[in-house]
Amino acid sequence: MTLAYQSGFGNEFASEALPGALPVGRNSPQRCAYGLYAEQLSGTAFTAPRHSNRRSWLYRIRPGAMHGPFELLPETAFHNRFDELPADPNQLRWSPLPAAKPGTDFLDGLFAMCGNAGVGVHRYAANADMAGRFFSNSDAEMLIVPQAGRLRLRTEMGVLEVEPQEIAVIPRGIRFAVDLPDGSAAGYVAENFGALLRLPDLGPIGSNGLANPRDFLAPVAAYEDVEGDFRLLNKFRGRLWQAAIGHSPLDAVAWHGNYTPYKYDLRRFNTIGSISYDHPDPSIFLVLYSPSDTPGTSNLDFVIFPPRWLVAQDTFRPPWFHRNIASEFMGLIHGVYDAKADGFVPGGASLHNSMTGHGPDAATFDKASHADLSKPDVITGTMAFMFESRSVFTATAQALQCPSRQRDYQACWQGLRKHFNPDNA
Ligand SMILES: [Fe+2]
Repeated sequence: MTLAYQSGFGNEFASEALPGALPVGRNSPQRCAYGLYAEQLSGTAFTAPRHSNRRSWLYRIRPGAMHGPFELLPETAFHNRFDELPADPNQLRWSPLPAAKPGTDFLDGLFAMCGNAGVGVHRYAANADMAGRFFSNSDAEMLIVPQAGRLRLRTEMGVLEVEPQEIAVIPRGIRFAVDLPDGSAAGYVAENFGALLRLPDLGPIGSNGLANPRDFLAPVAAYEDVEGDFRLLNKFRGRLWQAAIGHSPLDAVAWHGNYTPYKYDLRRFNTIGSISYDHPDPSIFLVLYSPSDTPGTSNLDFVIFPPRWLVAQDTFRPPWFHRNIASEFMGLIHGVYDAKADGFVPGGASLHNSMTGHGPDAATFDKASHADLSKPDVITGTMAFMFESRSVFTATAQALQCPSRQRDYQACWQGLRKHFNPDNA
C-alpha cells in the first residue's frame, strides 16, 4: 500500500483519520468528537518566537499519561556515555557493524559510536520488528539515516516509510515503533540534543536550492485501536526506562500542528558546486542543521555528498586536505566516496575530530593530480553523508574497542610521496 504524506517543511499540517475528528475553531473543546482526548505536544518553549515555535495537538483514544510506572533498565549499547575515555585526536574509521543477533529490533540494535553535549552518533543493525514495544526519546530529536533495508516508522502522527537514500526525523517525545519490511536493516542515527533541525538560509543562492521545503513529507493521521500487554520505553538523560502499557500509544485519530515526524529523499537534493575553479566548502551540501547560540556555528550539520558533476578547471577536484575547527563523523550509504579509494565502505564510518588532518588517500591524490580536466567528471551511484558538530565527538569505549574498528586507518596517508623540488616550479 502506498502511504499518503503531507508536503512541506515545518508546515501547519492538519490530518484526521475519521471525518470530523479534528475540532474546528478551537483546540480543546468541552467534548471532543468520537470521545477522543485532546493533548498538546510542545516541541519548543511556549514563548519561542513564532517562526521557530513548534507544537501539535493530538486527538487520541487515551491520553499519553496512561501507562504503568517507568522502571530503569540495565544499560545497553544505546547510551550517551561520551565521557568514558579521553576524546581521541586520531583519525578513526570503522567497517560496518556485524549482523545483529536474531531477534534484535531497531531499539536493541542501536550502538553508540561517539558524541558530545549536543549530539549523539549511533549506528544500528536490526532484524526484528518492534513487536509490542513502543519508544520515545525525551533527550533528542532522532535523525535516522537508513543504509540497508527499509524502515516502517509507526508514529503517533501516522506512518512513514523510508529506504536507503531517504532520511527520517522523529522529534523529541513522539512515540513510535519500527518495523523492518525487508526483514533486516542497518544505518545511522544522530541524536540532536540541541535546537530542532531546520533548513539553512540560502543567502546569495536565492530562494530555491539545496533541500527544497516541499520535498519534506509528514505523515497523515493513522491510529491503532489495539489493547494488549505492551511495553513503553523512554530514553531519559541517557538511560532507558520501561513501563507496562495496556494499549498501543499510537492512538491519535487526528492531529494538527507543526511538530511532526518527517522524511526526505536525499536524491531530491539540488546540489550546487563550482563551474569555474576550486570547489566550495562542504557547507554547500548542507541539508539540515541545528543551530547553536553562536551564529553560523552549528550544534549539528547534516551534510551529504550526492552524485554530481565535477567541472572545475586547474583544480584538484576531490575534497582537499583539510583541518577544520568542526568535528566530522562520516558514513556511506552506498557507492564509493570520492576522497577514498578503499576502506570506507557502505555501512562504515569515520571520525575526524577538530583540527585532525585528513583528506584524500594516496591513491586518490595521485589519480586526481593527473586527471584530464578538459572533460567533466560525473560522480554517480554514491551517497555519503556527514554529521558535523562545533564540539569534539568523544568516541565511546565500545566503539574504540569493537572489532569493526580499522586500526590501520592512518596507513591510507602513509603512501603520499614527497614531491617537493625547489628547482622545479
Ligand atoms: Fe573532512
